[in-house]
Amino acid sequence: MNPTPIITRRSFIKNAAIAGAVVSTLPLFNVRAAGAGRKFKIGLVGCGGRGTGAVNNIIEAAKALGHEIEVVAVADFFQEKADKLAQKFPGCRAFGGVDAYHQVLAEKEIELALFATPPVFRPLHVAAAIAAGKHCFIEKPVAVDPVGARKVIAVGEEAKKKGLCIVAGTQRRHMSSYLRNQYAIAQGAIGKITGGNISWCQSSLWFKNRNPDESDASYMVRNWISFVEMSGDHIVEQHVHQLDVTNWFLGRPPVSAVGFGGRARRQTGNQFDFFSVDFNYGDDCHIHSMCRQVKGCYDNIGEFYIGTEGTTFGAGKMQSAKLAGLKVPEFSTHANGQVQEHIDLLNAIANGQPLNGAKDVAESTLTGIMGRISAYTGQLVRWSDLMTNTESPWYNLAFKPAPADFEGGLVVAPKDNVLPVPGEA
Ligand SMILES: NC(=O)c1ccc[n+]([C@@H]2O[C@H](COP(=O)([O-])OP(=O)(O)OC[C@H]3O[C@@H](n4cnc5c(N)ncnc54)[C@H](O)[C@@H]3O)[C@@H](O)[C@H]2O)c1
Repeated sequence: MNPTPIITRRSFIKNAAIAGAVVSTLPLFNVRAAGAGRKFKIGLVGCGGRGTGAVNNIIEAAKALGHEIEVVAVADFFQEKADKLAQKFPGCRAFGGVDAYHQVLAEKEIELALFATPPVFRPLHVAAAIAAGKHCFIEKPVAVDPVGARKVIAVGEEAKKKGLCIVAGTQRRHMSSYLRNQYAIAQGAIGKITGGNISWCQSSLWFKNRNPDESDASYMVRNWISFVEMSGDHIVEQHVHQLDVTNWFLGRPPVSAVGFGGRARRQTGNQFDFFSVDFNYGDDCHIHSMCRQVKGCYDNIGEFYIGTEGTTFGAGKMQSAKLAGLKVPEFSTHANGQVQEHIDLLNAIANGQPLNGAKDVAESTLTGIMGRISAYTGQLVRWSDLMTNTESPWYNLAFKPAPADFEGGLVVAPKDNVLPVPGEA
């Protein structure tokens, strides 16, 4: 991949500022970092599929920029998973246990920590990392409940004060296809967005049965993708990508949500199979969201928006008479958004221009949480119920078991296959 920029950050910001676009969290693109040949010493917490993938991605990103990565330490709930990954990197230390993140963060030479555990742990981990003075890459989603999401927003503010980066695994924000459309929308290409539909409908995912004599904590960690307390349910865990694109394109989170959902086929855990939610973004704009994890059904993943002067897919075709008159940059990005997000992160650190996506990803996570609460309860849920109205029944929602229960050995797993009942929940 050629890291030569087609557009520089400086010229991009100038153009975008004229258009009134939001530039605060946009990436640096492929500006070669000052002083190529730098070695970034990193640590990883969560050595599963994505954690392993993220380490590979950051190594590729560093190579593309002429830098180097040293993986100093890795941690996992299960020592053997940390050991297995550490073997790939000479001298890498491996820590096991639910509180092993402390040992990674205690490594003074680590300047950047990557977090890819189940989402429930993200607020605690990112708070500890920023307190320890580390730059962070945090996988999405970043919380499972409103208390956790607000904590990530607060930690993001702390990071800003300390000049630390937080880049999230919402990779669409780093992909040229999405960047082009967002840029054009911000310049008014399709007028005011009034509606749209977004979906993540796919086959069922994996699940794990409980092993004989297994502790509740171990079972929940292994089967995390089935428990709302661990993952936030799939409207948060997976569909967060479309919710994130929508908040980004519209430049704001929704005002309220009304949704429904249910379950027919899932086994174990307590999540729904499907959700359908009307998100009201205010200013006469409604976005319909649907997500489903059921085998043998029609699959569709993507975004579509209708504006007063055109239409657009999230990453695809935009139909607009105004488009021809606009100068929309090409945004030279890596073909893989999960590499580009690390290119942007490393560039930001090397150039001393911190990127901070904490608020954006926390708000997108909270958008999914808002839809989920509406579907579980059958009620209209307002953004203010989660962000400002301390009297709301959902403002203080914080699931148990919480990370503190895991660290204190107090985990009691919720019963498998017992679900919220709308109208009663
Ligand atoms: N951006 C994307 O497109 C994308 C894709 C896949 C997954 N993800 C996200 O990445 C995260 C991880 O997903 P995954 O697919 O790698 O799951 P996984 O189950 O493969 O890996 C999670 C790992 O975290 C470990 N773990 C659990 N609790 C821990 C703790 N307290 N401390 C240390 N380690 C702990 C587990 O043992 C496991 O090895 C999730 O938030 C998921 O939503 C993002």
